[in-house]
Amino acid sequence: AIVILDFGSQYSELIARRVRETEVFSLVMGYTTTAEELRAIAPRGIILSGGPSSVYEPGAPVCDPAIWELGIPVLGVCYGMQLMVQQLGGSVVAAGRAEYGKAPLHVDDPIDLLTNVEDGSTMWMSHGDSVERLPEGFLRLAHTDNTPEAAVADHQRRLYGVQFHPEVVHSTGGMAMLRNFVYHICGCEADWTTAAFIDEAVADVRAQVGDKRVLLALSGGVDSSTLAFLLHKAIGDQLTCMFIDQGFMRKGEPEFLVEFFDKRFHINVEYINARERFISKLDGITDPEEKRKLIGTEFIRVFEEESKRLGPFDYLAQGTLYPDVIESAGTGIDPKTGERVAVKIKSHHNVGGLPKDLQFKLVEPLRRLFKDEVRKVGRSLGLPQEIVGRHPFPGPGLAIRILGEVTSEKLNILRDADLVVREEVKEAGLYNEIWQAFAVLLPVRSVGVMGDKRTYAFPIVLRCVSSEDGMTADWSRLPYDLLEKISNRIVNEVKGVNRVVLDITSKPPGTIEWE
Ligand code: XMP
Repeated sequence: AIVILDFGSQYSELIARRVRETEVFSLVMGYTTTAEELRAIAPRGIILSGGPSSVYEPGAPVCDPAIWELGIPVLGVCYGMQLMVQQLGGSVVAAGRAEYGKAPLHVDDPIDLLTNVEDGSTMWMSHGDSVERLPEGFLRLAHTDNTPEAAVADHQRRLYGVQFHPEVVHSTGGMAMLRNFVYHICGCEADWTTAAFIDEAVADVRAQVGDKRVLLALSGGVDSSTLAFLLHKAIGDQLTCMFIDQGFMRKGEPEFLVEFFDKRFHINVEYINARERFISKLDGITDPEEKRKLIGTEFIRVFEEESKRLGPFDYLAQGTLYPDVIESAGTGIDPKTGERVAVKIKSHHNVGGLPKDLQFKLVEPLRRLFKDEVRKVGRSLGLPQEIVGRHPFPGPGLAIRILGEVTSEKLNILRDADLVVREEVKEAGLYNEIWQAFAVLLPVRSVGVMGDKRTYAFPIVLRCVSSEDGMTADWSRLPYDLLEKISNRIVNEVKGVNRVVLDITSKPPGTIEWE
């Protein structure tokens, strides 16, 4: 494995992903990880991330200096490089000119780290400090117009530093450089493959649960679906998937899920029809947070009751992913895996957030994966694109896309409108390019005319966004023809709607969902 020590950079996770793209496992750990702890994990290489501080500031984060003596190759990136230089006796100062953006890299020494990195490759720079004097034993490998020491090395000790960010997509020579580090310098092998992951995960799950029973709350999203397939492969009928239909799903979705998992793949699915319970709980409720809370609480109640009825179960499977694990930073390090350990189950979970005090042991076989890796695993396990490529769908479902009070009548209207949006976006070949495309129902009415009759009906908002991770988003510039088709179909086919409007707000300041 390659360990990335995180000094607070927004790019630490990205470095981990890039290393994994070279088919080598990598994980992010806190910068306070000691040389002793690292020795126990025995990584093939260490990468020090960038960070927002200046190494010469009092209180700036530092790593254990014993790391330089471990004999493990180290690559410092930006702040990581400056820290390496400073701790080993060189000096770092505020740069005469800060450097942000793309810069051509002039390669002075095209060996090991920079083999196959073309002279003139574009590299992404983002720094206000620069190396002034190199420590003894270090040589310059490359420079840019503004930065004399853009890439440096102590070949003897296998310590390397780069001032640029090889991990960002704008750095054209970045992947070649990371490959050099991972393969040539650290001697890693390409063993982080989907097939290898599945074999290992299956073996681990079998070893963990033995002949005990496992319960999984299936939502039909990518994570829980992949989890269901993986666990079914590992333990077959010891797995029970509980699928709670709260009545806020999209048109045809409950039928589709039961048909798909239970009938087609013979994965035990317990379908729980709880529609009445949920809709009656929401009677007269208009506040978004109150709605979310009521739905979350009711979900837990149903889950508890039903798991008692169907149980006993020893284990609960959770679709926790790697970013969930590292997001809760500073919670200590698991001495066995070297991973930072999350103390709590993610509260904003896609099946509504299960409480922490459930009497189950957890099975979390996806906890080392990024989202795109989950998709690969899902595909490899035989999940069709229809599931693996789905847009995210919130746990509270359509209930938070009907503003104000939720009624059966409004749910039916929204389901029909939502189906039109999905069908047309797919038909236009844009589904996979868009993060989410959906309809929202507003609790106001406006006047229209249809035939010779005046109408007074609800508007539908069309919300389509592009995004990398849901944290920020931009509204999708859909072709006018497509907008026209969606609008025509909705007002003609969906009873109770006489107007379609388009949401052109980015996030921030808007959120993706309307509640
Ligand atoms: P917002 O609306 O906060 O949404 O911009 C960001 C992303 O999260 C999804 N979302 C949820 N997902 N349970 C979930 O599993 C929820 O309660 C929930 N609320 C929002 C939303 O669809 C978007 O992808």
